Amino acid sequence: MARIGVIGCGYVGLSTAVLFANLGNQVVGVDVDHAKVAQMQNGLCPVFEPGLSELLERNVNAKRLQFTTDYAVAVSDADFVFICVNTPMGPNGGADMRYVRQAARGIGRVLAPDRLTVVVNKSTMPIGSGDMIHALLTDEAADSTRIAVVSNPEFLREGSAVHDMLHPDRIVLGAADRAAAEAVAELYKSFAAPLLITDRRTAEMIKYASNAFLAARISFINEVAHICDVLGADVRQVAEGMGLDKRIGPHFLNAGIGFGGSCFPKDVMALEFMAEEANCHPQLLHAVLDINRDSRRSFIRKLNKMLGALEGATIALWGLAFKPDTDDLREAPSLEIIRDLLMRGAIVRAYDPVAMEGTRALFPTVTFCADPYEAATGADAVTLITDWNEFKGLDLERVRESMHRPTFLDGRNLYDPHEIAALGFTYCGVGVPSYPAASLPTSQLSRFVAD
Ligand code: NAD
Ligand code: UGA
Repeated sequence: MARIGVIGCGYVGLSTAVLFANLGNQVVGVDVDHAKVAQMQNGLCPVFEPGLSELLERNVNAKRLQFTTDYAVAVSDADFVFICVNTPMGPNGGADMRYVRQAARGIGRVLAPDRLTVVVNKSTMPIGSGDMIHALLTDEAADSTRIAVVSNPEFLREGSAVHDMLHPDRIVLGAADRAAAEAVAELYKSFAAPLLITDRRTAEMIKYASNAFLAARISFINEVAHICDVLGADVRQVAEGMGLDKRIGPHFLNAGIGFGGSCFPKDVMALEFMAEEANCHPQLLHAVLDINRDSRRSFIRKLNKMLGALEGATIALWGLAFKPDTDDLREAPSLEIIRDLLMRGAIVRAYDPVAMEGTRALFPTVTFCADPYEAATGADAVTLITDWNEFKGLDLERVRESMHRPTFLDGRNLYDPHEIAALGFTYCGVGVPSYPAASLPTSQLSRFVAD
């Protein structure tokens, strides 16, 4: 069993620390956030992530997992040190690497001399970061220290982090020295996942290219949905029909209000930035981001059209988190939508199962409600922003009766348009039939189908 230090205990670091402790390793997690460390020392999970708090508590109690703010405790005895700090979007669109640099210097200062420590980059970092971290570590450490730096990008999704960690699709390891990559591979030996060993820059690029590709699928289907709206096709069935082709596959083809979260927006932008700095011409990445911005704007335009005007209208938001099963609000579409609605003079009522606290601090004039029914009461429109399971089984007749105007804008195509319209709602989704119909009449389509 290995001794492992994990630097940065957010969604990825805490999941990593818990995973390796659960496999029987001795793990020490480090964070600069004292309150977070105190919580975790008591076995409490600082983030909402299904299944994580049980594993955290179990491994803290089993004394395989501890937390500290002191780098020396985590690093000096470690065989492996994982860097899992945040790499947010910087002011120019590139990744802000200040936390990575701080972590690398902090590690370098307390590395044990005369033995090998493998530093593993798990944060998503620009191409070339492995070289930079190696240089910082060497700069700080004693001359006799032996250091290897391995890139090991993480592919987990928030909301299913535990599942994704336990069932990875692949393990990617990038290293200048194959022996170091193989040592890290040993940590994952109980997983059946394919292992890909590359050089460091290639591993770093695999992470960015994977996120950009998934984001591109979402923007692609959102563009198709927009065309479906106008021409009168149903994007849900279009996606199903496309996804049945094995070369395309069914995943990440759900049209909606665009991708949010702490990763797709910043990672596509960081790849775009790197490409531009290197005098490449990343046209597709530009389009992916443009379409994503448009998806939110067209959502507001649709709402405006449905209601006639937004000024003075009461709008209920169902869901605030950037996706279900998380409390994460980073780049959540809800925030942009609330900002836009308030700017246009609308009154906003909101409900989310777990993400209301973070939003309350940003928007003091929004009314936060105990459940979706309370949010809908007196509203001119309900907007579905996050496709939480909880919203699937609601009594929509009760919702309609409590509303001022029964108008429904479904940003995630969670409901069946025909069923919801049959209940008496004016309904609009994203690329699905709307009630009343909004697509071009057949007479106008004739110019596409005429000889
Ligand atoms: P996060 O913001 O949730 O957590 C980062 C943690 O690092 C915070 O607790 C912060 O206090 C701590 N930290 C910052 N500087 C530190 C330092 N110098 N020393 C010790 N601790 C420090 O971030 P996250 O969502 O876990 O993402 C971490 C990295 O993993 C990012 O590069 C991200 O792109 C990548 N990633 C994230 C996900 C995800 O689903 N969230 C998935 C794959 C990859
Ligand atoms: C994403 C990737 O899926 C992970 O593989 C990656 O590790 C992670 O980013 C990262 O690098 O941080 P995550 O952001 O947690 O994970 O969530 P996703 O499930 O990918 O959803 C991202 C956004 O896309 C959400 O806003 C979601 O609503 C939206 N989405 C997703 C769609 O609009 N349509 C889809 O079909 C799928």
